[in-house]
Amino acid sequence: MKIILIGFMGAGKSTVAELLSQKMHLQIIEMDSLVLKKSKRKNIPEIFEKDGEIYFRQLEIAVAQELQNVDNVIISTGGGIVENKIILDLLRKNGIVIYLEASFLEIARRLKDDDTRPLFRNKKNAKQIYGFRKLLYEHYADFTVSTDNKTPEEISTRIIDKISDNSF
Ligand code: S3P
Repeated sequence: MKIILIGFMGAGKSTVAELLSQKMHLQIIEMDSLVLKKSKRKNIPEIFEKDGEIYFRQLEIAVAQELQNVDNVIISTGGGIVENKIILDLLRKNGIVIYLEASFLEIARRLKDDDTRPLFRNKKNAKQIYGFRKLLYEHYADFTVSTDNKTPEEISTRIIDKISDNSF
């Protein structure tokens, strides 16, 4: 089984991946951590500042290439992976792609004091990116789980139910 969690920054991908990993006994792969390892930087904002977003996206593609044959894992992706079609083409083979959907308002609330996301520093730009990517997340998803007003526990239970009864 391979589960790929997609969605905007702050949608809860990492938290939900953690719960799913415990409940389903699957290992977690955090794409952002692998990207960071491949870079020579201390953190993600530094990759954006010193090397630029295009370089960051290239590292994401390289990580996806390395992950194309993994199995029995939950892959928690970075919010921008839908910007390069090749990434989901590589990741989704024999996997289930789940879109964790959250409203922009809810995301802005969750990321209010967060400065680890370079693309959320300008809220107006972030809103534009959100609008554009929403269509891509929907396009790639095998199913969507709405996360507004839901706890990570509720979200993970919903995902497990849907997977177990194959209702997607
Ligand atoms: C990004 C999302 C981040 C991280 C980077 C770029 C994006 O991951 O990959 O800051 O373009 O949306 P999260 O979705 O885990 O915040």
